[in-house]
Amino acid sequence: MRIAVLTSGGDAPGMNAAVRAVARTAFFQGWEVMAVSAGYRGLLEGRIQPMSRRHLGGIIHRGGTVLGTERSAEFATPEGQRKAAGKLEEAEIDGLIVIGGNGSLTGALKLAELGVNVVGIPASIDNDVWGTDTAIGVDTALNTALEAIDRIKDTASSHHRAHVVEVMGRDCGYLALMSAIAGGAEAAVIPEFEPRPEALLLFMKMAYEQGKSHFIVVVAEGAPLSAEELHEYFNNEGTYDSRLTVVGHIQRGGSPTASDRILASRFGEAAVEALADSEAGIMVGLRGENIERVPLKEVVGKNRPLDPGLYKMAEVLAELPE
Ligand code: F6P
Repeated sequence: MRIAVLTSGGDAPGMNAAVRAVARTAFFQGWEVMAVSAGYRGLLEGRIQPMSRRHLGGIIHRGGTVLGTERSAEFATPEGQRKAAGKLEEAEIDGLIVIGGNGSLTGALKLAELGVNVVGIPASIDNDVWGTDTAIGVDTALNTALEAIDRIKDTASSHHRAHVVEVMGRDCGYLALMSAIAGGAEAAVIPEFEPRPEALLLFMKMAYEQGKSHFIVVVAEGAPLSAEELHEYFNNEGTYDSRLTVVGHIQRGGSPTASDRILASRFGEAAVEALADSEAGIMVGLRGENIERVPLKEVVGKNRPLDPGLYKMAEVLAELPE
């Protein structure tokens, strides 16, 4: 048996731990492992090389992906997908493991429909992949966003300021909401809920009158009210002077947390086991304590829903008035 592994889409801390787990589990089975460089683009270019144990040492703690990653426009087309399937056939690949987020898993489904034995591993800091409680990179990115908020809180309190902090997440408010809860922010503005700038302004005025030393709002990059708009609104109408911080790609890098390394190791092992059981066209996902096999058909085209109870809880804990 010869398998190939690729990482695709936005990188996520823990991808390397997943590559390592895939390769080592496959070696344990006595299989050959091929590394595809630069995601689907590399696959289209035939950049498929044998992977040896030498490639796997000293990568578990490294952020990014040693395989490289890209977002390929050509692969998004049916011709591109057929060409990619052809490259796998030429290289005599019996199974492909795709590590990535929604776009990458959509690509995996397309290949599965062309007869490729594909298993997906969810990896995206956004935590928007349907069919899994969490994905590789979420925990690390969340802790990075939290660290930014903690640091901002120090300076905000010293200067008696409002701070608007933009965090990543594409169309999903998970990172913003969770970092706001964990960071004790005054509010989170996320795509899943209608923004209420007037209510926030009122809350800000109350906080000011009560002598609160800071006012911190975390805004998801995909929110209908942008961080920049809110910051300007606060500066024009608010009681505190406001500052704007975009955490940005800092959230994508860095050494993965223990939790992400362990999750990635479990997903990597489970993906190879699925291929060993001749199961393909699936993604491995975390449900509670267990790793489950979820059909890619069910995963693709949906986004993991956010628990509305957590949004309500964030408002209660921040003492946002009704
Ligand atoms: O999907 C991960 C993510 O970091 C999103 O949170 C963000 O919207 C996007 O990727 C940024 O993409 P790029 O790295 O291509 O700018």
